Amino acid sequence: MRVLVIGSGGREHALVWKLSQSPEVTKLFCAPGNGGIGELAELIDIGAEDIEALAEFAESKDIDLTVVGPEATLAKGIVDLFEKRGLRIFGPTKAAARLESSKAFAKNLMKKYRIPTGQFAVFDDPQAARAYVRQLGAPIVVKADGLCGGKGTIVAHTLSEALGAIDLLMEDKIFKQAGERVVIEERLVGEEVSCIVVTDGIAALPMLPAQDHKRLHDGDKGPNTGGMGAYAPAPIIDGPMAKQVMEQIIMPTIHAMTSEGLGFTGVLYAGLMLTSEGPKVLEYNVRFGDPEIQAILPLLKSDLVPILDDAVEGRLSTTQCQWLQASCACVALASGGYPGDFQIGKEISGLDRLANRKDLMVFHAGTKKDRERFLSGGGRALNVVGVGTDLEAALKTAYEAIGAIRFDGMTYRKDIGFRALKKPVAR
Ligand code: AMP
Ligand code: GLY
Repeated sequence: MRVLVIGSGGREHALVWKLSQSPEVTKLFCAPGNGGIGELAELIDIGAEDIEALAEFAESKDIDLTVVGPEATLAKGIVDLFEKRGLRIFGPTKAAARLESSKAFAKNLMKKYRIPTGQFAVFDDPQAARAYVRQLGAPIVVKADGLCGGKGTIVAHTLSEALGAIDLLMEDKIFKQAGERVVIEERLVGEEVSCIVVTDGIAALPMLPAQDHKRLHDGDKGPNTGGMGAYAPAPIIDGPMAKQVMEQIIMPTIHAMTSEGLGFTGVLYAGLMLTSEGPKVLEYNVRFGDPEIQAILPLLKSDLVPILDDAVEGRLSTTQCQWLQASCACVALASGGYPGDFQIGKEISGLDRLANRKDLMVFHAGTKKDRERFLSGGGRALNVVGVGTDLEAALKTAYEAIGAIRFDGMTYRKDIGFRALKKPVAR
């Protein structure tokens, strides 16, 4: 099978790494990929959102299966285009991807089908939005309706913060069209968890539950980032809670999409808050979580190809999936200054000493290969992933490996997994 993966981050490196182990894969391409991915797949110089060029490529190279990493590519309608051209692709259609690309669509769907989520209202008029937040008061959450690369949500602790967020989104239009409509939402309190399934629109195959760390600094402090680390499985999701999430959230969402005539194939990722009233949906994503999937795939014993293939073919109800009885921790190594201004092009040393280990993977988030050297090429350069018998062992492996890696300005969190360990990791 000839497989194309679309994207260029740690998520796509993890996907390529797992797919490269499949006996079914004869040739692997990644567009556009990164330095690390280039070690396992042939890199194709086509942007992840250039869907016409990607379809041309897939057709000309007889690609049997395309796997999409980023949401923006799905929201552009790559699945519709590929299907029209008779090309096999794993993911939701443009209309179904609205679960992620329109928060108003997602919230209205949850309301209609009684899927647990916070109270909310949708506004196109800034005056009305301001009146609503004045009426409800802070804390309150203001969200841009459209895709903003994870930056469109403001959890406002004061009324003036909430009013400021409405100004930024609706008047200053910092995210252009994506923020012209806003969702204003009740602030939920609890622990967050990422519940990710693969679905063919009828059955759902759960991946291990994971938790990510979005904030830059230890203790979940500082600005939000694309993700500073993750771990799986998240012990807070025990057997009964996993069952509750499937019965009250995942399956009702899939059925709701069918009832709406949209259907849903691909990855359904429910970002949940575990509140005192039970799990409630914060957001849906329609692709694998990054960095979560980097902590999930190393624990997947089964071949990923039949799972994705069965989802595309609508025969997932009989698909089995086996997991290692172990834990996995992923720690992101970022460039100094990230998520603000940062410099790239710094030489990374120490990676050669970490190659070919079963308990350790280094997934590249943003690197370039320059002759035999890797250079940093993004806000987050690398994700160091350790596997161990428990989370503590997995973290120890990851952090020991980090000790061997150097690049100018390298920063990382020292407390990944602290919620599951119940105390900061001493090192
Ligand atoms: P979202 O843009 O919906 O993915 O939200 C990004 C982050 O904002 C989430 O991971 C939560 O940490 C936080 N968040 C979003 N919605 C809420 C809410 N209703 N209550 C509390 N925190 C929220
Ligand atoms: N880790 C959060 C996300 O993938 O959206």
